[in-house]
Amino acid sequence: MSTHSDVKRLTAPDIRARKGGTPIAMLTAYHAHTAALVDRHCDAMLVGDSLGMVMHGLESTVPVTLDMMILQGLAVMRGSKRALVVIDMPFGSYEASKEQAFLSAARIMKETGCGGIKLEGGRRMAETIAFLVERGIPVMGHIGLTPQSINTLGSFRAQGRDPADWAPIEADAQAVAEAGAFAVVIEAVAEPLAARITQEIAIPTIGIGASAACDGQVLVLEDMLGLSPRVPKFVKRYGELGPAIESAVQAYAEEVRARTFPAAANVYPVKKPG
Ligand code: KIV
Repeated sequence: MSTHSDVKRLTAPDIRARKGGTPIAMLTAYHAHTAALVDRHCDAMLVGDSLGMVMHGLESTVPVTLDMMILQGLAVMRGSKRALVVIDMPFGSYEASKEQAFLSAARIMKETGCGGIKLEGGRRMAETIAFLVERGIPVMGHIGLTPQSINTLGSFRAQGRDPADWAPIEADAQAVAEAGAFAVVIEAVAEPLAARITQEIAIPTIGIGASAACDGQVLVLEDMLGLSPRVPKFVKRYGELGPAIESAVQAYAEEVRARTFPAAANVYPVKKPG
């Protein structure tokens, strides 16, 4: 089987080069068919560990495993051909040491063929980011609200609403950029702070609940499609697929119960004898 495609996939350096240019459109994707749809319009896709909540109904991203990320990452790679695919490092797969991070990241890259990984944390992860980048792993950072820290944060609340709290978040952004990350996600950070960080650092900022001044935006696909039961308040809904799916399912169940659905006799008519 040939794996060659004429379409050139965007790379981490391509995304890095978009600093200050045309904004980067990014969405999450967890499976092949939605990845194919997203691929036609977005520059990058994130196989986010949010899949734990969106696909598995978990309360947080903490229980997500490396095997779960690799399985869904493979599906997204199969479904897409143009966008850069970035896969989240799940909680517990990279924090213990830079060596542990390298082994986990290398597994993700080798087993999925994706173009980069994402990990959460600013200054505390800078040494690890540099270690990975020096060894050939493109890294996307993630600062501001870092959902894997939910058990120490206590809640998913916005960061930097008080200007007195800005300095450490700016220092996180600077540390991630200087460590060699090709881009950084800024999650749930007060608008003027996200805009200021975008001016200050040399790599693209990808906002989520941050600022239109960022170099790009990422949203969870199911949130913007109206498929998630609970959605952060900053998310604009571009579709209402939840109600659309439910009314299709209801129509189907009613037709089955009324025996009015298309029967095999109509689809495969029996040949007349002779
Ligand atoms: O897991 C995820 O979907 C993410 C985005 C919210 C940035 O990390």
